Amino acid sequence: MKILLLTHPMPPEPFAAAIRALAPQHELLAFHPGIDPAALSGVEVVLGWQMPRGLPGRMPKLRWVCAVAAGVDKLLVEDLPAAVPVSRIVDVDQAEGIAQFVVLMALRHARALPMYEVQQRERRWRRQPVAAVRSRVAVLGTGAMGGVVLGLLRTVGFEARGWSRRSREPLESLLAESDIVVCALPLTAQTRDMLDARAFAAMPAGSYLINIARGGHVVEADLIAAVRSGHLGGAALDVQRHEPMAPDDPLWDVPGITITPHIAAQPSTETIAAQFVEGLHCLERGAPPPQTIDRERGY
Ligand code: OXD
Repeated sequence: MKILLLTHPMPPEPFAAAIRALAPQHELLAFHPGIDPAALSGVEVVLGWQMPRGLPGRMPKLRWVCAVAAGVDKLLVEDLPAAVPVSRIVDVDQAEGIAQFVVLMALRHARALPMYEVQQRERRWRRQPVAAVRSRVAVLGTGAMGGVVLGLLRTVGFEARGWSRRSREPLESLLAESDIVVCALPLTAQTRDMLDARAFAAMPAGSYLINIARGGHVVEADLIAAVRSGHLGGAALDVQRHEPMAPDDPLWDVPGITITPHIAAQPSTETIAAQFVEGLHCLERGAPPPQTIDRERGY
């Protein structure tokens, strides 16, 4: 089968090597903007992170798109035919890595570590009242990631509650009862911009946001205003609207906002290759590939 690797900004070589180790018979092609149209016309499968608009129309034989990630939102361009199945990677280790990151940031906030870091820089040895041990955490999104995040938060003693778009509880009342809000939602038309000025106003004074999902969930200007005004205690953003963030992005300089470059956890190249090759076997047998998403819902 002819496979297009569309892994930018990650280099395609490690993916190619891992796939070749399992299934050397396939033809692998790495995408670049000047790619020969004739080469594209034979592509049946894409393994990728982000689909440039207009590209699906140049691949009339396309039968399957497999993400190199848990989220597929960057692949779901309008011109991707509805009949082409799209799969995501499900990696238990990645979910645990994400959960560790969330717990790290939640504890860091709940135990006021940033304040003690400032005190240390100022050589001030001062004991402050110890914060509540059982902070209330809302985890938005209860899927493959959110479920694992909830479990680990509870293990370390947080009072964690899950919320999904199917929950009966209105989001704003949950936000109002949460010291920390974790976003683990898929990015869809319904969840885009969900964390905006209204949501931040509903959160209690001093509360904290952790986003390990997608930058598109957060209206960043509203977040900056809520943190700068002192209403929110801060945020940990592992994902941002514009990745990679430009040096002049206003998020960099907001005291209380911690930025990490989408590193909470990634599926391993080996896991991606194994799941991808399993999907190729399915296609060869005429069966549907694994972990396909609902194209209507977008996850
Ligand atoms: C993601 C991933 O979807 O890194 O963000 O897997």
